[in-house]
Amino acid sequence: MEQYVISGGIPLVGDVEIGGAKNAALAIIAASIMADETVVIENLPDVRDIRVLLKAIEEIGAHVERVDRHTVKINGSLIDSVRVDYEFISKIRASYYLLGALLGKYKKAEVAFPGGCEIGSRPIDLHLKGFKALGADVKLEYGLIHAQAEKLVGGHVYMDKVSVGATINVLLAASMAEGKTIIENAAKEPHVVDVANFLNSMGANIKGAGTDVIRIEGVEKLHKTEYSIIPDQIEAGTFMFAAAATKGDVTIKNVIPKHLEATSAKLIEMGCEIEEFDDAVRVVASKPLRSTQVMTLAYPGYPTDMQPQITTVLAISEGTSIVTESIFENRFRYVDELSRMGASIKVEGNTAIINGVEKYTGARVAAPDLRAGAALVIAGLAAEGITVVDDIYYVERGYEDFEKKLALLGAKIEKVSSEKEIQKFTLKVS
Ligand code: EPZ
Repeated sequence: MEQYVISGGIPLVGDVEIGGAKNAALAIIAASIMADETVVIENLPDVRDIRVLLKAIEEIGAHVERVDRHTVKINGSLIDSVRVDYEFISKIRASYYLLGALLGKYKKAEVAFPGGCEIGSRPIDLHLKGFKALGADVKLEYGLIHAQAEKLVGGHVYMDKVSVGATINVLLAASMAEGKTIIENAAKEPHVVDVANFLNSMGANIKGAGTDVIRIEGVEKLHKTEYSIIPDQIEAGTFMFAAAATKGDVTIKNVIPKHLEATSAKLIEMGCEIEEFDDAVRVVASKPLRSTQVMTLAYPGYPTDMQPQITTVLAISEGTSIVTESIFENRFRYVDELSRMGASIKVEGNTAIINGVEKYTGARVAAPDLRAGAALVIAGLAAEGITVVDDIYYVERGYEDFEKKLALLGAKIEKVSSEKEIQKFTLKVS
């Protein structure tokens, strides 16, 4: 088991390069198997979730070739199975995108049913409702979702709730259905737009991605393409909060500032200065941080994937803040860990009431999920003394070289794998 060990209290200063968006990349990898020609994907983040999904598509017969750390060539012409086992789904929920991709291409898919996860119950009823609207017969048997259609035909899909996953899954299947599909109340997240752009670059006919209504005219075949994934807005936002928490001055490079507007707006309310460039943002936290109110919402609202990070910084900001989580029901589990570092946060239902304290003090804490794990690292960077974050397996699902990028900004952080190494680090910094 590996840990991060951090000696906190050092302002982060300098530049950091952001990688490709993990959540766009997952859907794009699934989409790539829909072509029978070779697809080249660039700006792929080298994180655990991506590696697992690449393995999952290899398992069903796709040919995967790593060109370099961030580029992969995928060829789906030799796929010989439409079944994705629980082994993959249990490691990475987003393998459910193979349901939409396989159903669209082969009109048949069998994918293990994903259960709940660390952040909530995570139903997939809307994905299945979408497939049914395209004429698929969907059955749940022996832990597998079987989706099958003689002929997949375009249909009208109204999403009862805005869902990134369901919007993308229907987008995938509808791209190769006969005729026109309309998705209403579609998710507008940048990665939904990126997946639509990717599919269009393979010859799909998708209009309206990024708005509430997406129109898809099905095509018979998808072809080869070369595509570069958009920057990861959540990785970028995480570094923005790390800068704020440590009273630093960090320029976050290779981002689309428009995608970071909700985060930037909150940081400004909290007293940071934000400077926007064409493809970078600079966060300067030279004044005391103040409280604010936050509610997580679908894009362009404040992202749920940035909720633990802002809560962590608000806990050391002046005044009382209120953070409401409206997307996932179980996304405050890290609060107990923050309390061990001195935070004063009370969670009532889906709301956290935060009374800002002066500082965190280092402690041993455990990451309960991906974004919460990143937030605990932020707390450790701001804390007085040594913090050890256990279960960093979660963090590595979505952050490439997290500790290395932080160290380049001046943080004292190391990835270790034994108590002895923790002691060695402690001795070195004291
Ligand atoms: C995506 O999950 C992301 N994952 C999540 O990122 C992110 O938190 C979430 O979108 C919200 O932005 C990937 O892209 C791989 P949803 P997804 O469907 O698609 C309800 C991270 O940290 N719902 O938009 O699963 C659901 O319960 C991860 O990188 C249904 O009710 O989220 C939730 O309340 C964690 N029925 C809401 O919709 C359904 O069929 C939004 O979920 C589907 C969803």
